[in-house]
Amino acid sequence: MSLSITSTIRLSSGHHIPLLGFGVYQNYDSKTSVLEAFKVGYRHVDSAQAYRNEAHVGAAVHESGLKRSDVFITTKIISKYHGYESTLKGVDESLERFGFDYIDMFLIHDPYSGTERRLDTYRALLDTKSTGKIRSVGVSNYGVKHLEEIRRAGLEMPAINQIELHPLCQQKPIVQYCRDNSIVIQAYSPILRGQMDHEVFKSVATKYKRDPAQILLRWSLQKGFVPLPKSATAARIYSNAQLYDFELEEEDMTRLDALDRGKDGAITWNPVDAD
Ligand SMILES: NC(=O)c1ccc[n+]([C@@H]2O[C@H](COP(=O)([O-])OP(=O)(O)OC[C@H]3O[C@@H](n4cnc5c(N)ncnc54)[C@H](OP(=O)(O)O)[C@@H]3O)[C@@H](O)[C@H]2O)c1
Repeated sequence: MSLSITSTIRLSSGHHIPLLGFGVYQNYDSKTSVLEAFKVGYRHVDSAQAYRNEAHVGAAVHESGLKRSDVFITTKIISKYHGYESTLKGVDESLERFGFDYIDMFLIHDPYSGTERRLDTYRALLDTKSTGKIRSVGVSNYGVKHLEEIRRAGLEMPAINQIELHPLCQQKPIVQYCRDNSIVIQAYSPILRGQMDHEVFKSVATKYKRDPAQILLRWSLQKGFVPLPKSATAARIYSNAQLYDFELEEEDMTRLDALDRGKDGAITWNPVDAD
């Protein structure tokens, strides 16, 4: 498998997304970190209205000297603001904060608002896509029943589902559903928020002379996911992108695959079962 930091995957919307993303949750100096990330080659940033850093991410894009079309920027709307009209307004507010003419990917952050408001929010995002303000529509923390709800409503399927995903929490039914429906899977908390003190992670890392974060990120890429590691530390922003001069052998992928603990392995809110 030949991957590089510039590798992309085609979304069902027809746009391409870089396979490695840069997370900015709880990053209180996002502009500096995003500029650092661009310098080492990341071209994809995962923000959210709830992170309160869209303006910082936008400023980094403007200051980076990169063309807007060279970067892929995601944001998300949380359940508190779900609903048709509030979503239309929310998209305009995000555009304003970023200082962009368009946003690459707009996600419904979580499924907590109930069937009717989830679908209203989704319809608003699809309608906004047709105006060109956003390029692709996706969801986050959606379980199979939420995805089925979209299909049953006769709406086009999301381009992305962003879920907690790492060897301890592999979300297998959701992953299978997404694969069957051409939905690209973004893996959040791919390095377990830094909690990587697991014997298997350490042993595989020693074998490849890498650190555990690099092993987990490489596992994610080789599974076909789009991992979104977060770091506010320059050295880690760099090391988390050094993933392309080694490949995990099948036996090591199998060892990592065997660590799945289902929902018990989750370390975040993981609301994929919300009503
Ligand atoms: N849709 C959702 O509901 C949702 C939920 C959670 C996350 N996300 C997205 O996914 C991104 C990543 O998830 P996350 O932030 O929860 O967790 P993560 O990326 O798995 O881990 C980030 C934590 O690991 C530390 N870290 C980074 N690189 C490291 C390394 N090489 N070695 C050891 N520790 C390291 C970071 O510390 P330093 O910053 O100090 O380096 C930070 O504390 C978020 O930023 C966000 O964009 C989405």
